[in-house]
Amino acid sequence: MSLKFGVLILFCSTTYVQSLDNGLALTPPMGWMHWQRFRCLTDCVAYPDECISEKLFRTMADHLVCDGYLEAGYEYIIIDDCWASKQRDNDSRLQPDPERFPNGIKALADYIHDKGLKFGIYGDYGTKTCAGYPGSIDHLELDAQTFAEWGVDYLKLDGCYADQSTMEEGYAKMGHYLNSTGRPIVYSCSWPAYQEPLGIKSNYTKLAETCNLWRNWDDIDDAWSNVTNILNWFSKNQDRLAKFSGPGHWNDPDMLIIGNFGLSYEQSKAQMAIWAIMAAPLIMSVDLRSIEPQFKNILLNKDIISINQDPLGIQGRLVLTKNKIDIWTKPVTPNVDGSDSYAIGFLSNRVDGYPYRLNFTLSELNLTHDSGYAIRDLFDLSAEPTVTNIDEIVFIRIKPSGGTLLLAVPNPLNNVSKI
Ligand code: GLA
Repeated sequence: MSLKFGVLILFCSTTYVQSLDNGLALTPPMGWMHWQRFRCLTDCVAYPDECISEKLFRTMADHLVCDGYLEAGYEYIIIDDCWASKQRDNDSRLQPDPERFPNGIKALADYIHDKGLKFGIYGDYGTKTCAGYPGSIDHLELDAQTFAEWGVDYLKLDGCYADQSTMEEGYAKMGHYLNSTGRPIVYSCSWPAYQEPLGIKSNYTKLAETCNLWRNWDDIDDAWSNVTNILNWFSKNQDRLAKFSGPGHWNDPDMLIIGNFGLSYEQSKAQMAIWAIMAAPLIMSVDLRSIEPQFKNILLNKDIISINQDPLGIQGRLVLTKNKIDIWTKPVTPNVDGSDSYAIGFLSNRVDGYPYRLNFTLSELNLTHDSGYAIRDLFDLSAEPTVTNIDEIVFIRIKPSGGTLLLAVPNPLNNVSKI
């Protein structure tokens, strides 16, 4: 009897050690990652300013700091695929491409840290990365140690060229090795992105124990249809997914593509609004040297960022589709007289060419505070809040395939006369 008890304790403590308890990502991570905008461009002779090289990351780090992004919360600068040499070194360690990263990764990490930023890198759980660079499957512990020695603060571990049936256990093992380095490293996993498209429902309890964030679904490309396809999948699966999102562990619908070639200004507002509602990681992938001011302003909108970073950490949901306009809500702070505030995001699937006049009531969206809410449009800095009863009809104009974000704060019960 006592022996069985002893075995049980041992088993429980092993499980505990393998789970992620790193105290990181208490709000959705924010930063910049190269993949969506710069892909696997490695030809530095033809494209010296765009190729995946230490120069690109130093330049982007300078912009993050000087252009106000760090101040707004974008703190991680993350290298995606195509940084490595095709061969490991003589000690089997990963090494960067010597021509593109002549000073090594540690020197780049130091540069980034000296600017007050944090540094992220990409690896792959399988035999090769998606672009064919060395994978980690036979070197998980060594790679965790190498990343820690380089000063890595964030690891995106992809899942190409891997057996998806071993991922749950294998990713947990890597999480354990990362923890064992003693360096706090945000751990971004990808195993649902390899299971869910095969129709396999990933184990989100295990994900939330193992990873700080995880890519659930397809890659985002530079088009509005990618944004809407991703959101369709997330909203269809929201009852299954949303409850696993919270401080320290987040669903990740992929990068922000705002400021690139594919999205209009209105579509960019919609992506920012719904990513904020979903408590999604805000990882930009855009050329910060040439981004147009109107897109930059969307990315730097402090009110919208604070919806995304709200301390409650609740993933919002699609609650109503009306006249082809999706309405999403997310409970946020402050709580007034026992009622949460709500962010209300709109995304229009309309293409009929004029700003459509949508009407709705707050009670249709399940907002129930007796004395109503003060509503403000977070994209309109000059707008004053309007106090609105929950059954009063509200009109809002939404441009074709565009969106916006409102904040509804409960009107204090002792303020009823204002309605
Ligand atoms: C996969 C990932 C992308 C990117 C590429 C790199 O497709 O989902 O986000 O990291 O690999 O090759």
